Amino acid sequence: MNSLASVIVIGAQWGDEGKGKIVDFLAEKAQLVVRFNGGNNAGHTVVVAGKKYKLHLMPSGSVRGEKVVIGNGTVIDPKVLLEEIAALETGGKQVKLLVSERAHVIFPFHAQLDGLQEEVKEKKGTAAGTTKRGIGPCYMDKAGRFGVRMCELVNEQLFKEKISDLYARAEKQLQAYGKKPEKTLEQITTEYTEYARKLKKYVGDASEEVNDAIDEGKNVLFEGAQGAMLDIDHGLYPHGTSSNTIAGGACTGAGVPPTKISQVIGVAKAYTSRVGAGPVPTDLGESDTAKAIREKGGEYGTTTGRPRRCGWFDAVTVRHIARINGLTGLAITKLDVLSAVKKIKICTAYELDGQATNKQPALASDYAKCKPIYEEFDSWQDASEKEWGEIAKKGYNALPKEMRAYVERISQLTKIPISIVSIGAERDATIQLKRIF
Ligand code: GDP
Ligand code: IMO
Ligand code: MG
Repeated sequence: MNSLASVIVIGAQWGDEGKGKIVDFLAEKAQLVVRFNGGNNAGHTVVVAGKKYKLHLMPSGSVRGEKVVIGNGTVIDPKVLLEEIAALETGGKQVKLLVSERAHVIFPFHAQLDGLQEEVKEKKGTAAGTTKRGIGPCYMDKAGRFGVRMCELVNEQLFKEKISDLYARAEKQLQAYGKKPEKTLEQITTEYTEYARKLKKYVGDASEEVNDAIDEGKNVLFEGAQGAMLDIDHGLYPHGTSSNTIAGGACTGAGVPPTKISQVIGVAKAYTSRVGAGPVPTDLGESDTAKAIREKGGEYGTTTGRPRRCGWFDAVTVRHIARINGLTGLAITKLDVLSAVKKIKICTAYELDGQATNKQPALASDYAKCKPIYEEFDSWQDASEKEWGEIAKKGYNALPKEMRAYVERISQLTKIPISIVSIGAERDATIQLKRIF
């Protein structure tokens, strides 16, 4: 065991697992919280004493007023970032932020292209149901080496040169759809130059900041966005997002070496939810069970408000994700929600073309054919948010015995120890079972 205390928290399913809540909980003992992937496609909710914070770009550590970093692997809509900073400050929070000079900038034509590309894909059944925030097109410009980074945005002269090239490229791309950019080059240049003036003080070498913090023995938390099944390489292509959402993404997306990571916590809901398009083997469709879980769990997107599809916990998926991420612990969230149903199921294997399998197919069309093989469990009695908070104070053994049996079976099936259980949205409705910092 080394003395490092740098912990990656990632979503172990399809996003919206409760990463914001878990990061806020762990941030009590962290001195730095770092976002490393995605952009404002993310929506992370933190609830403290009845007050709800919805964060899209700012790391969840900002709710505790911790120092936060937005790493090079992210894509930044400056307008959204400025609004979030303002909202936190209005709410009395001190914002201590460093944004990587290497992070890429999202422009309005990225969002426009996002919508148009999706329309084409919808007709072919290859859409992801994106958040239409311009995430994919911005990462496309990054990978194509056309993009504008934060270091260029905050350099007025350089920005003018870079944006006129990128704008010309966007015009050509939009032409293919018979469209023009919604904003002129002049409008974008003026608007973004103003954002740059306001953001300049936050922009710098994020990798140095994070590495120094680790070297000084500080506790550092890396906050993943999205979920591992949405990862561009290891998720369900082409229905995922455009960044590396897995733990390895923290190294490339924050500029830290793998040798400086001490633990990887996978956050998984006690069931499955999915917002967006693409097959999910344990999806319960519009059944009464799915509706009961959605209503009790408030399963509506934080970013888009879309209803989330709900289904049973998929141990095949989480086991696959555990391997790719090297999970050292699981945080199981929203256990309280399953009191909405009498019987609960866990998918332990799939049946594909008449054969039982534990593998995650690479082809989405094969994944769509996977039929879950289930194990059934008894549920537990309901309690109010306040009562779950009281139970959490008493510790793990105070949980209903059916809940403990369920959690322990998840640990057995995924072969990952349980580090945290969460039984309510509130910060204190949380039980930590394993030391993390
Ligand atoms: P994230 O994107 O992974 O941060 O998750 P979201 O914030 O998008 O969605 C999770 C939702 O569940 C939020 O509204 C949280 O406040 C809520 N939540 C988190 N943990 C729990 C829990 O254990 N129980 C309940 N009932 N709600 C929870
Ligand atoms: P958090 O961080 C759930 C999904 C979208 C779509 C796909 C691609 O809150 O867990 P994108 O806009 O990224 O190009 O969309 O990914 N998606 C998410 N689903 N939670 C998220 O973030 C998501 N971010 C993107 O619905 O299917
Ligand atoms: Mg979310």
